This record gives sequence, C-alpha cells and structure tokens, in this order.
Amino acid sequence: MENKSEKYRQLLKEATSLVSGESDLIANMANLAALVHETMGFWWTGFYIVRQDKDGVEQLVLGPFRGPVACTRIAFGRGVCGTAWQRMETIIVPDVEQFPGHIACSSESRSEIVVPILKDGKVIAVLDIDSRHLNRFDNTDAHHLEALVALLTV
Ligand code: SME
Repeated sequence: MENKSEKYRQLLKEATSLVSGESDLIANMANLAALVHETMGFWWTGFYIVRQDKDGVEQLVLGPFRGPVACTRIAFGRGVCGTAWQRMETIIVPDVEQFPGHIACSSESRSEIVVPILKDGKVIAVLDIDSRHLNRFDNTDAHHLEALVALLTV
C-alpha cells in the first residue's frame, strides 16, 4: 500500500471540507463512512450511535455504514463496539477470533478497529471498521481515525 499516513492526511482534508458547513450528524456520518470506505478499501465501515431503547436503557444502534448488512443493536460492554464504548478508548483487534465476545456480523471479518466518539465527556457513538485481512489496523489508523471522528463533534 502507498504510504498510509499520507493517504489518511488527504482523507482528513477531504473529510474536513465535506463536513464543514453541515451540522447534521447523520448526514456527516453518512459521508464520512462512504469516504473512508472507498478511500481505504475496507470490508465494512460504519457508525453505531448511542440511543435509549423503549425502557430507557442505552444501547448502540446501527447508523450510517458501507458494506454488508450488520447487527442493529449492541449492548454496553458487549463485543468490540460495546467494549470501546465502556472503556472510552480506541480498540484495535488484530484477529477477531481472539477477542472474547466479538460479535460476528460478517464471517468475512478478520480484524477490526473501533473508535469511540466523545462529546462533553460522554460517548455518543462509535466508528467501527472491519477488514477481511488479519492485523490490518495499527496506531496510524487509530491516530488518524480519532482525528477524523473529532470532526463530527466540533
Ligand atoms: N464486530 C462488532 C459488531 C459490529 S460489526 O463488526 C459491523 C463487535 O464485536 O462489536
């Protein structure tokens, strides 16, 4: 792959201009999912948003995404997404089969990264990305994807 950091720097520039001037969270998530997915060639790229269910319990609910259909709801502390929400930190999973409680929405997924999106000290959503390759994500991905999702809360 060409220099990954350089690719992300370009992507961040495009993302900044895409979301500037638009305040709607869903619209911006939809465009960022498409941009990241197409630019980086991932298997699944999307957002899960913290919402209350009918009993007032917070869950992650599927938001804008690119890729195959996915699970719609994830509980706090469950799977990679629910764990990133609980820990309030980015989680890189080099091999999904080695992550206890990993939720397999697609049997094709081999590695994963989940980046929480914080607003006023609270997780409001997560960015979840799956790859069909083992060990696809590292700190370069984490660093740039954290900068990317920060665009959603300015
Ligand atoms: N693997 C995730 C579930 C979401 S799908 O990958 C799109 C998890 O364990 O939380």
